[in-house]
Amino acid sequence: MSVSYTGVSWTPSKKRYDLVIGLGVALMLAAFALTGALVDPLATAETLVLRALSWTAVALLHVILAIGPLARLDPRLLPLLYNRRHLGVSMFVLGLAHAAFATAQFHALGDRNPLVSALAGYAAPGVNPRWTDLPFEPLGFLALVILFLMAATSHDFWLKLLGASIWKSLHSLVYVAYGLVLAHVALGIAQSGPAALLTRALLVGAACLTALHLVAYLRERRFDRGGRPPAAHGFVPVARLSKLADGQGRPIVVGGQRLALFRVGDAVHCVHGVCRHQGGPLGEGAVIDGCITCPWHGWQYRPEDGCSPPPFQEVVHTYPVRVEEDIVYVSPTPNPLATPAAAGDHHARETDATSQEGA
Ligand code: HEM
Ligand code: FES
Repeated sequence: MSVSYTGVSWTPSKKRYDLVIGLGVALMLAAFALTGALVDPLATAETLVLRALSWTAVALLHVILAIGPLARLDPRLLPLLYNRRHLGVSMFVLGLAHAAFATAQFHALGDRNPLVSALAGYAAPGVNPRWTDLPFEPLGFLALVILFLMAATSHDFWLKLLGASIWKSLHSLVYVAYGLVLAHVALGIAQSGPAALLTRALLVGAACLTALHLVAYLRERRFDRGGRPPAAHGFVPVARLSKLADGQGRPIVVGGQRLALFRVGDAVHCVHGVCRHQGGPLGEGAVIDGCITCPWHGWQYRPEDGCSPPPFQEVVHTYPVRVEEDIVYVSPTPNPLATPAAAGDHHARETDATSQEGA
């Protein structure tokens, strides 16, 4: 985790992920170049390459934006999320190659600096410009700047340096980049004539992304509102003990907070449900090697005190748990940070949480 994170370790799963990205990108480039040649038989090889690069970048951008809500809707898709940053960096490289090709092809032969020419647009002297004459390439350029910032800060070193909330805000700019790319393409189409296939593909893509985000949001909201009121002793009933699988997390809502419940043998533990890394859902994780393990990138926390195992220093709050008959109750008030917490004990009939330490 972040404190002693020194370098990227290329695990077999990361290598497989990158291999799939590489093959997917190569296939998409070939398919889009072929489609481009069929749609516009007069296009030069350079134009086909620059379009295939841009379409592949845009397709990857859609995949990246779809992975978040898809993984929320179906945890089996979580492996896609693990190394989403690799997808982001690949998409930036494709966007950069497209921009470089476009600048070289459309702006390198004039007497102006190619970059200045690309950003200034093709203003025709003496003609009253319409809004559709606005230069569309600066929009692509701005998108590229955002994608660069995201790719350059994607390593966990930057996450640690900037802090999770700044890093997350920076990476949420991907939605701004998406809007800029849509505007870049729409204005480009408005200026160069109708491109029915591209327009339809972008509209379908935007509609699918909006629908996915909406469904995932509504599901989360329903879950967040689903918490039960506390019982007489102030603890909230959250689950039946007999229904908790050993070592498997259960996301719960207590007092409006997202928490994560774990049964480990005879003991039941509860920790705050939001991972300190990038806000992953700890309740969808499992206990591996004695530690609660986040399903997104594998950060770990001890169930007893919420601390990451040494040498790491991240901590999540733990919550008092009690078990009465078959019912597991959790207190909405967290234990002091990094103190060993009481665990609800399987064998207890009616237990005071403080007597269950170490159970
Ligand atoms: C400095 C940055 C950029 C420049 C100078 C630039 C330039 C251009 C140019 C000149 C075209 C028209 C090509 C044609 O008529 O065939 C174009 C189209 C396009 N660009 Fe960019 N672009 C930039 C950034 C981006 C980025 C970052 C993306 C996506 C991630 C992107 C996606 C597209 C797409 C999808 C098209 C439509 C291709 C088509 O006409 O079929 N561009 N861009
Ligand atoms: S969000 Fe990355 S490990 Fe939890």
